[in-house]
Amino acid sequence: MRVPGTGEHTATAEAPDLWPCFSNPPMGGRRFLYDVSVRTQKSTSGRLARAVKKARTACLDLRYGGLLNKSPESRYRHLGARYSANTDYDALPYIFPDGSIKPSDVLVDVGCGFGRVINWWLSRGLRNQIVGVELDPDIAAKTRCRLRRYANVAVVTGDVVELMPGPIPRDATVFYLFHPFERPAMQRFKARVEEVYRGRRLRLYYYVPAHADLFDDDPQWEVQRRSLGSPWPHRQEFALLTLQAGAA
Ligand SMILES: C[S@@+](CC[C@H](N)C(=O)[O-])C[C@H]1O[C@@H](n2cnc3c(N)ncnc32)[C@H](O)[C@@H]1O
Repeated sequence: MRVPGTGEHTATAEAPDLWPCFSNPPMGGRRFLYDVSVRTQKSTSGRLARAVKKARTACLDLRYGGLLNKSPESRYRHLGARYSANTDYDALPYIFPDGSIKPSDVLVDVGCGFGRVINWWLSRGLRNQIVGVELDPDIAAKTRCRLRRYANVAVVTGDVVELMPGPIPRDATVFYLFHPFERPAMQRFKARVEEVYRGRRLRLYYYVPAHADLFDDDPQWEVQRRSLGSPWPHRQEFALLTLQAGAA
């Protein structure tokens, strides 16, 4: 079964209810775009485009030490985790356009999984301090080992909520999340972030923002929903959530 937004497969045949926003084609005008994209994917040129994309993805994965083509279901469902799926490299330039990350930013991948986003940050020549935090110790160990030669990268094991501040530094400025956990875990995470980073300006880039509504109507946060601008509407959205400096 494919994990939406990744083009990768899970080991189980169970419907991925983690991704409710992908279960059905969109309605209204976006339905047309969806139909076109599905037709394109089935055509020869669509198959060729997919093969080229797969090769590009594999090249970038291998440049950083290994193919990252698995999306296993989490052993930590009881903590709100579901899949260790990788972000599609092609989504990242839309989420982090040129200039969005400053040399002084401290970057955290919340639920870094196999570390593909860290690969991409490195491939852009970023020398920022980068912290990946991953709940699953086996996955964290693999990612830590693979990226060990990058002095600016640390991969830590554990629950993000328990690791900030500490391994997740107090001066972190950018958090990336690819739908890492379900709603109760997101509520815990939000509360902890507000406690630890109160008064600072912190940006959360939240891809597949299933629980971004938790931040709506909270005056501490500015919420912007943005489109990736790709022709695949079902994986188009991310949210930029900014904790306002000086928010009480
Ligand atoms: C969808 S994957 C995203 C992987 C990576 N960020 C990417 O975009 O390629 C989400 C990851 O978050 C991890 N995760 C879930 N809950 C977590 C928590 N409380 N603390 C740390 N990691 C967590 C999961 O184990 C999983 O590997």
